[in-house]
Amino acid sequence: MILVTGGAGYIGSHTVRALRKSGFETLIFDNFSAGHREFVGQTPFFEGDICNPADLERAFSTHAIEGVLHFAGKALVPESHENPELYYRTNVGGGVNLLNAMKNAGVKYIIFSSTCATYGVPEHVPITENTPQHPINPYGETKLAFERALRWFRESHGIEYLALRYFNAAGAGTEGEVGEDHDPETHLIPLVFDAAIGRKPEVRIFGTDYPTPDGTCLRDYIHVSDLAAAHVMGLKALMAEKVQSQAINLGTGIGYSVRQVIDAAKRITGQDFLVREVPRREGDPPVLVAAVDRAKSLLDWKAETSGLEEIIASAWNWHRRRFDHG
Ligand code: UFG
Repeated sequence: MILVTGGAGYIGSHTVRALRKSGFETLIFDNFSAGHREFVGQTPFFEGDICNPADLERAFSTHAIEGVLHFAGKALVPESHENPELYYRTNVGGGVNLLNAMKNAGVKYIIFSSTCATYGVPEHVPITENTPQHPINPYGETKLAFERALRWFRESHGIEYLALRYFNAAGAGTEGEVGEDHDPETHLIPLVFDAAIGRKPEVRIFGTDYPTPDGTCLRDYIHVSDLAAAHVMGLKALMAEKVQSQAINLGTGIGYSVRQVIDAAKRITGQDFLVREVPRREGDPPVLVAAVDRAKSLLDWKAETSGLEEIIASAWNWHRRRFDHG
């Protein structure tokens, strides 16, 4: 059985579905602080908090866990500036509690949700896994700290890991029962849809003076179903010991600008809405685009459903049903 911390969240819930389709038994471990009870579906779940070692010990002692997918954590950059203690406590402290519980239970395999935010402002793009990591916010810093903890727990206790560094997760699965819903929402695509359905009066573009073709930031948007597939492939490879412990970027290798995203959203939704250009947001690197060769060569994974139109259409399908009449 695979323990999925944060399995009721956005990326975790898509991955639980992919794991079950592949024949894995799963146990969701979530405290529902950001996860959604309705995303759990028919999957067994354990209500618990990674910050509480007793909850973890109980989950491991009452289930036959063979591997862990670790999604639980805090993931909002602005909040991480307001409350770094929360980010250290959850992403580092909670993560280390999890590793300790794995060690005590003799569980050897973990896949961790890491992020391109660990790179900070890269000197070169595309970003390879060997690009120096200099995070520029507490969110990225705490994700990097846990990557480092993984390395030392491997050395001392033989726990094997993959740290999957996602670029910009977006989109929703075709079954339409789970999608992106953060509170507060800070991500571009859901905020654009909020303007399209009138939940928000406008979309703001944070900065139009970046050194990019149209002056707005470029991001590598990766469909959540592609991310879910990478986790399944990574877990299989890790448990079969076909891959060594390391970090792997998950992206498409293609960057789209904020303006391109907004234009595509206007086309796909058929809605026009107000777009306001405002100054840069603190802590946004101009360009974040992945080099994706390692994922291809090690896991035979590449993005399949991450065209911009596909991402936006799937996310729109979910978003309008969740919020249009809500
Ligand atoms: N943006 C706007 N207007 C908005 C929201 C976003 O112009 O209302 C711009 C941002 O400035 C950025 C781009 O749209 O250039 C994407 O912003 P998101 O907030 O959607 O995502 P980020 O690129 O900030 O994502 C970062 C890291 C991820 C990390 C995520 C966590 O790149 O690795 O923050 O929230 F997971």
